Amino acid sequence: MIEEMRKLLLSLVTFFTAASVSADDIPLYLDDNADIEARIEDALSRMTLNEKIAMCHAQSKFSTPGCPRLGIPEIWFSDGPHGVRMEFDWDDWTHAGWTNDSCTAMPALTCLAATFNPALSFEYGKAVGEEARFRKKDVILGPGVNIYRTPLSGRNFEYMGEDPYLTSEMVVPYIKGVQLNGVAACMKHFVLNNQEKYRDHVNVNVSERALNEIYLPAFKAGVEKGGVWAVMGSYNKFKNQFCSHNDTLINQILKKEWGFDGVMITDWGSAHDTYQSAMYGLDIEMGSWTNGLTWGVSSAYDNYYMAEPLKRKIRDGEIPESVLDDKIRRILRLSFRTNMNRFRPYGSFQTEEHAQVAQKVAEEGIVLLKNKDNFFPVAPGRYKKIAVIGENAVKRLTQGGGSSELKPKVEISPLQGLRDLYGDAVEFSLGYASGEPNYSYELPSPYNADSLRTAALELAARADVVLFIGGLNKNFTQDCEGDDRRFYHLPFGQDELINDLVKVNPNTAVVLLSGNAVEMSWLEDVPAVMQSWYLGSYGGCALANVISGKVNPSGKLPFSYPVKLEDGSAHYFGEESYPGVDGQVYYKDDILVGYRWFDTKKIKPLFPFGYGLSYTGFDYGKLSADKREYAPADTVKLSMEVANVGKTDGAETVQFYVSQKNPSIMRPAKELKGFKKVFVKAGEKANVEIEIPVASFAFYDEAERKWVVEDDTFTIHAAASSADIRESVNIKVKNKK
Ligand code: GLC
Repeated sequence: MIEEMRKLLLSLVTFFTAASVSADDIPLYLDDNADIEARIEDALSRMTLNEKIAMCHAQSKFSTPGCPRLGIPEIWFSDGPHGVRMEFDWDDWTHAGWTNDSCTAMPALTCLAATFNPALSFEYGKAVGEEARFRKKDVILGPGVNIYRTPLSGRNFEYMGEDPYLTSEMVVPYIKGVQLNGVAACMKHFVLNNQEKYRDHVNVNVSERALNEIYLPAFKAGVEKGGVWAVMGSYNKFKNQFCSHNDTLINQILKKEWGFDGVMITDWGSAHDTYQSAMYGLDIEMGSWTNGLTWGVSSAYDNYYMAEPLKRKIRDGEIPESVLDDKIRRILRLSFRTNMNRFRPYGSFQTEEHAQVAQKVAEEGIVLLKNKDNFFPVAPGRYKKIAVIGENAVKRLTQGGGSSELKPKVEISPLQGLRDLYGDAVEFSLGYASGEPNYSYELPSPYNADSLRTAALELAARADVVLFIGGLNKNFTQDCEGDDRRFYHLPFGQDELINDLVKVNPNTAVVLLSGNAVEMSWLEDVPAVMQSWYLGSYGGCALANVISGKVNPSGKLPFSYPVKLEDGSAHYFGEESYPGVDGQVYYKDDILVGYRWFDTKKIKPLFPFGYGLSYTGFDYGKLSADKREYAPADTVKLSMEVANVGKTDGAETVQFYVSQKNPSIMRPAKELKGFKKVFVKAGEKANVEIEIPVASFAFYDEAERKWVVEDDTFTIHAAASSADIRESVNIKVKNKK
């Protein structure tokens, strides 16, 4: 007995001794308690050259391989800024046809910007991040923050307007909302991707000052305040170097000056050279032309610039392996922040919360531009027969547009939303048709334009009120990636149709769904105009709520509306300034983009930046500052009252612009340096308080390569738009001697 017991005990001791693994044997990179930097170094020390090279480029259309031997997962990317895009085939641009890859489509980022509501931007980013996490994506390819320089740019709908301060304030919370899910936001397109025409090669010539005052601030804010984990390079060039591997932009500014510790990735196919990719800051190469499975010897992915060609340069000693190691550290950091982070939440999909956020952004982003004789709101029961006319009342506008396309589980059209609210009072006629969304050519409309117009006019003639719902769409050369609009006016015969509609029924309002300003030759003839956007899954509900008065519109334009195209800064100087000639485009408008241009050149826009009406009215009280004189390191504390003097509760965005009295160099007439959106009940007042750092009054001094606040008098304006200053206060800035 004892002998048996002894043998059993011995076997147990042997078993546990052999099986026991000491703490030292667990790879540090698997130890959640170790700090990420220690885990990075440990993992890096274990990787072979082949494993490092593999990590720096795609293995499929939207993934990189990680390091399987070390248990470091693949990294999965997905578009796009407005929601999680559908799945693709492993290796080409074919939709994979899955049945579980839909999403909640959020409104386009122009709509989010028009809310002037940073808190809502956080909710927006959180919802997108939760759905990305649920869909097992590690990087969401958004937000886009390129500045709106011309109303023709095909992708303005994916961006946040013309002002660097507004874009900076709205992008930071979006990034934080996404990344709290353990999903990386990927700010794009870094930088100067302000047009789609010639995007894949055009070299942008812009002054150092305009680069720093207009085109970089949102990216800087996203890195320094948002802590963004990934940045995507643009297709175009700067200083005749492709932006995706650009020494000045990436090594000097992004990584050194701003301290960006994340991953720099290409746009799909925006890498063009192995040495430059390695030495000028690129970390992951995606989408380089390849058909993946058949092209090249083993696999086209091995032929990527950062694949075999890079390995050869490292083996030959032309490129030090330490350069590669920095890329691997950044990629591992991305992994430890996302798919190696075992504490990240699990995400969620198509929740009621996401629906509410999508609808609220849509409702708060819609901008009421004209409302003569209180045309709006169209209260339920006010009219017996409501004619809804126009293709955008029914077109699925989450499709098309390029990489921001979505496959939403729900997409409530304006017509559906209006029918849900007004019932049988609504009668619809298409009015015009644009054909299917597409990339490579413009399909002729499959409909007979005359018959559509005749039917629409017949309906309008017998209706009590007409709601024309048109605008742009996501077809090629509309609001779409890959090229720009060909003209400023509305397409598909809408202008003529609007003129005819007004003739048969003057009680006709125009509701535009678009991501860009358009020419309004008919503006004087219509009593009301509403600027709506690509509103996503619940756009129809949101639009109906605003039209009917259930929601009081509070959106403000995130870009200026020029009367005619040539009034705008990008078109004033001819082709060289847009779209460019012989591969070169010159930003001759320099720092005077958007309202900065209209203010300073004294050109009246049709509708100014920051403009938007309400169903109520707001009076501004006296604006006061806490001191008369400030040092550059100080913060100005401002306060004022806003009174709702109407009968409807509503929200108002008070904008704060700053003008310098006697600058030593040319400065815009004024620049947005603060805004505050306040909700005020009818007949009540709200106190608005805001703190604005004096440092933000600075201009960029090119000679000194630094920001400068001069001793001078500065005027701070409290405004309802860039052209509607209500209150002002002067303060002095004095540099301490
Ligand atoms: C596209 C777009 C970019 C997108 C990427 C992946 O070309 O420029 O915004 O994220 O490719 O689809």
